[in-house]
Amino acid sequence: MEKRQADSTVTDNVKDCLELLEIVNDVKPTQNTEVCRQQEAQLLREPWQHPLLSPYPVEEFELPTSLQLQELPLFPQWHLPLKVMTSLMVSTFLYTLLRDVLQPLVTQSRNDSYKIPILVMNKVLPWTSITLLATVYLPGVLAAILQLCRGTKYGHFPGWLEKWMCVRKQLGLLSFLLAALHAIYSLSYPMRRSYRYKLLNWAYQQVQQNKDDAWVEDDVWRMEIYVSLGILGLGVLAVIAMSSLPSVSESFNWREFQCIQRTLGYLALLLCTTHTLVFGWRKWVEPKHYVWYTPPSFILASVLPAAVLLVKMVLSLPCLDRRLEQIRRGWERPHSQ
Ligand code: HEM
Repeated sequence: MEKRQADSTVTDNVKDCLELLEIVNDVKPTQNTEVCRQQEAQLLREPWQHPLLSPYPVEEFELPTSLQLQELPLFPQWHLPLKVMTSLMVSTFLYTLLRDVLQPLVTQSRNDSYKIPILVMNKVLPWTSITLLATVYLPGVLAAILQLCRGTKYGHFPGWLEKWMCVRKQLGLLSFLLAALHAIYSLSYPMRRSYRYKLLNWAYQQVQQNKDDAWVEDDVWRMEIYVSLGILGLGVLAVIAMSSLPSVSESFNWREFQCIQRTLGYLALLLCTTHTLVFGWRKWVEPKHYVWYTPPSFILASVLPAAVLLVKMVLSLPCLDRRLEQIRRGWERPHSQ
């Protein structure tokens, strides 16, 4: 899908360029001049030779004088994914701010605003990242359900689903970026001054309580497991992100590409969801985490990915999987439109 997507991006760019050539030459599509036709033929033959499609930096003075760089569309494939990411980040930020900063301020007059730059951000980033990752695999699952219901692969998907499927690569790359930032934020925890003060306070309290050992076996295991799962998840995401680079993906055949994007993709989603669930551990049932009757962020963050994985598992049941395979090879249920 992503390969077809890359091809269609080049075609779109060529189309944009052709339209631009028409603007530059000031001709309508119906009244092409000989010059314009020659330029178009050259563009279709060797698109990379054209300054607008060249993979190398192009200076504005290299372009025809009548052509303005500003007329070119700017990252059109990224508009929708960036909008989705921004709205998710804003909503998760407000939710976390309400629970982690406003609630202590209102109920205990405690100023916890120092949490905003690192601790709040480090909930916003992974929450948005895992949600974006789930939205990469959700349209595939919806498309499979639609094909099963229709009993054929011939038939258009709704426009919104097609549009969604076309931006999966961008959604995945944004998810990877946020996950990488989350990992760096997480690893910075022990460097913070606030953490050092907290550690000193805990040690002092421990002395006061006459405890000589702070080791909590349960908590140790929880952290070892969820950090390890997070690192593995990030590693798999990195492999998928690298495999979507055109120069790398061109070296794979279709089956290899599918294997990396699909199998490793679901593996990454599974690892990251388990990482979140293990991070939650028993906090799911502890009432103190339900601040102002709102569920903790890790519960909300794991709902969508867990649902996608669950539906995928159901679709992988042999009876449904076999039928889907047949449909994808061209089989049609009698009387299906
Ligand atoms: C090197 C890799 C990673 C490390 C070291 C790591 C570490 C952590 C840590 C320390 C927390 C607890 C944060 C807190 O105390 O608030 C956490 C939570 C979380 N992580 Fe990761 N993580 C990694 C990768 C990932 C990846 C790849 C994802 C998914 C895209 C992810 C998703 C989450 C989520 C959703 C939470 C729960 C945040 C919340 O709502 O409280 N992590 N991780």
